[in-house]
Amino acid sequence: MKLEGKRAVITGGAQGLGKGFAEHILESGGQVALLDVKVSLGLETANELNAKYGQGSAIFIQCDVTDKERFKRALQVAAQVLGSYDILVNNAGISSHEDFEVVLKINLSAVISGTMFAVEHMREDKGGRGGLIINISSAAGLMPAPMEPIYAASKFGVVGFSRSIGPAVESLGVKVLCLCPSFARTPLVTVHLENEDFRNFVESMGLMEVSEVVEAFATLVEDERNASVLSITPGKKEYRFQKRKANL
Ligand SMILES: NC(=O)c1ccc[n+]([C@@H]2O[C@H](COP(=O)([O-])OP(=O)(O)OC[C@H]3O[C@@H](n4cnc5c(N)ncnc54)[C@H](O)[C@@H]3O)[C@@H](O)[C@H]2O)c1
Repeated sequence: MKLEGKRAVITGGAQGLGKGFAEHILESGGQVALLDVKVSLGLETANELNAKYGQGSAIFIQCDVTDKERFKRALQVAAQVLGSYDILVNNAGISSHEDFEVVLKINLSAVISGTMFAVEHMREDKGGRGGLIINISSAAGLMPAPMEPIYAASKFGVVGFSRSIGPAVESLGVKVLCLCPSFARTPLVTVHLENEDFRNFVESMGLMEVSEVVEAFATLVEDERNASVLSITPGKKEYRFQKRKANL
């Protein structure tokens, strides 16, 4: 998809990868709505982006994506303010929480509800204009992560859901894509670096800058292959699960 003139909603867009994806869309001539629980940071980010890319290019909407009604309402507000939206990036995520169900709610359930709401908005058979849904999973959605089993469960879920729902909504004019980054330098990772075991693990895998993940995001959006899963690790991006016959 060419991003010029396109309008995107990005959950967890106040910082980190979400902010990086927003900058890419704005640089390409689009507009963004950032949804996040962090109100002052979200407003600050939207102000920074408006100053850089022009007033009205970014809006912030306070939203906890685990609250389905508020998430639905936030998407409606984004559609009203932007005129519509063509892209939803389900990016909000956390790495760990004392209650494992919170991790599943943010990282998996909210990706599913966001996808369902966006499909309703975009579906061409009901007057929508089609669109792209991009779900942010992780390398921990492709291989075991013994240090973070609940996170891995949520991210494997995002991969399985995206590969399954993509073909199911294609006839409605909607495509679903999935991005699986390994470690990138964002607060999600850097706050845990004082833990020596974690730091050693991150060093063994390599730590990407946000820009490398954003570049993979740009490839995914440009290629627009429905139900595709793009893995990005330091210096290497690769489509996974390429379609093969009778590969059950
Ligand atoms: N940074 C990495 O190494 C890495 C690697 C693989 C996948 N990811 C995934 O990328 C996505 C973005 O991660 P990041 O590294 O930018 O993290 P981050 O912590 O820097 O940013 C995540 C954002 O999500 C927001 N958020 C959290 N819970 C929310 C909720 N309930 N409702 C709305 N917003 C909420 C946070 O406030 C924050 O602004 C996540 O899904 C994460 O799992 C990150």
